[in-house]
Amino acid sequence: MSLSKLTGMALGSIFVPRARPKDFTAEEVAGSAPETAFPRGFLLGAATSSHQVEGGTENDWTDWENTSYPDGKPHIHDGTKSGLACDSWNRFDQDLRLLQELGANAYRWSVEWARLEPEEGRWNQEAADRYKSWMDQLAAAGISSMVTAYHFTLPRWVAKDGGWQSDRTIDRFEAFVRRLAGAFGKLPDLWCTVNEPTVIAIQGYLRGDWPPGLKNEVETARVIARVMKGHARAARILRERTGKPVGIAHHVRLLHPATWSPLDRVIARVSDHFVNDAVVDCHRTGRIQIMIPGKITIDEAVPDLKGSYDYLGINYYTRDHVRTDFKDPSMSRQFVPASRPKNDLGWDIYPAGLHHTLMRWKRLKLPIYITENGMADNTGDRRPEFLRSHLYAIERALRDGADVRGYYHWSLLDNFEWAEGFTPRFGLYRVDYDDPDRKRTATPAVAVFQEFARKLRAASGAAAGKG
Ligand code: BGC
Repeated sequence: MSLSKLTGMALGSIFVPRARPKDFTAEEVAGSAPETAFPRGFLLGAATSSHQVEGGTENDWTDWENTSYPDGKPHIHDGTKSGLACDSWNRFDQDLRLLQELGANAYRWSVEWARLEPEEGRWNQEAADRYKSWMDQLAAAGISSMVTAYHFTLPRWVAKDGGWQSDRTIDRFEAFVRRLAGAFGKLPDLWCTVNEPTVIAIQGYLRGDWPPGLKNEVETARVIARVMKGHARAARILRERTGKPVGIAHHVRLLHPATWSPLDRVIARVSDHFVNDAVVDCHRTGRIQIMIPGKITIDEAVPDLKGSYDYLGINYYTRDHVRTDFKDPSMSRQFVPASRPKNDLGWDIYPAGLHHTLMRWKRLKLPIYITENGMADNTGDRRPEFLRSHLYAIERALRDGADVRGYYHWSLLDNFEWAEGFTPRFGLYRVDYDDPDRKRTATPAVAVFQEFARKLRAASGAAAGKG
């Protein structure tokens, strides 16, 4: 099968460089006028995930955190463990107050599969009741819930029986989601089936940085396919049983060629297609189409996959530059040029890329939610500008006709940042991990968020007055 047929890319287009949008100028960002661009009812909020904030979760990640690489290095780079995390399991009231203080009208969060179903078929009603009370409290506060069914962590019993390397996990995920639909039904305003299928596969099965720690290209492709099958079944069930919009949170990482050499351009384009398009295209085609040259090609029609997104969730953080490197399994090396502004993890800060991303998927004609966007910033001093410039990117996209319905900042709180541990801080609110009460303190970006929320509320009020 040819590259172009399999990837759905016209062969000629592989050689055509994608536009590389210029950075916004400070004057452009300062001249923003959100009140004339953002639609009424726009969801403005923040996001978290269960394992990263709840504390006390027991799953495949807990085991990963407690073990090391063969050379003795801990799996978690700073040697920390999620442990009590932000203790959000016992401090939901505080988190809710923070959302209210922000002026947010939306919260994206996830339920923990291992808590709800600690053993196959055994449902933890107490945990379900607690989650249900959070949904009720959010609704009473006028804050809509987007609930993610699966955000990176598997119950131990699922992981031990093969995790995403086994088709049984697709069946078990389907059964779990059926119970979620029964337990919570219409309470979430939006359902999100899976967080970042490609990231699960790349981090856990290609790079070996996350559980189960594999480095295998063939398994990577198969895992994406299985996760997408799980998504398709979950989407059907959630739609049928809850009637609420269902989508996925897709990680977009823009990949730009490092040089004008045809080889870098081709490699960047093919990698970009694998990382960014495969998960989106399957909504249109109903097929899973993945090719890792020389390793594996998957081209399979999957029941219920076609049209399985009511909305597209986009997690946008950064872009990479790509240089050809045949020694690497991905045939390339990704890096951020020294001249670029970076966050604490070395990620390129590139708000124009968010505008570009929104314009790229406008053609799907689906509502788009930015389900995650944020930066690691230990002092919190640079987050205000990050937030302003990314909200400006959305404003531009709205003026250019993109159907953006919401923005969830990652994250409400500092939290457990997977293999990086607690060192990077993504929170609008700083969390004191030395304090048994996990005191939360506003960072400077909170004021920017509040001001923005005020502008949107005022514009909605004015529009309602007119209407
Ligand atoms: C993930 C989050 C993570 C964030 C920052 C996203 O890819 O969904 O769980 O904390 O990126 O790295």
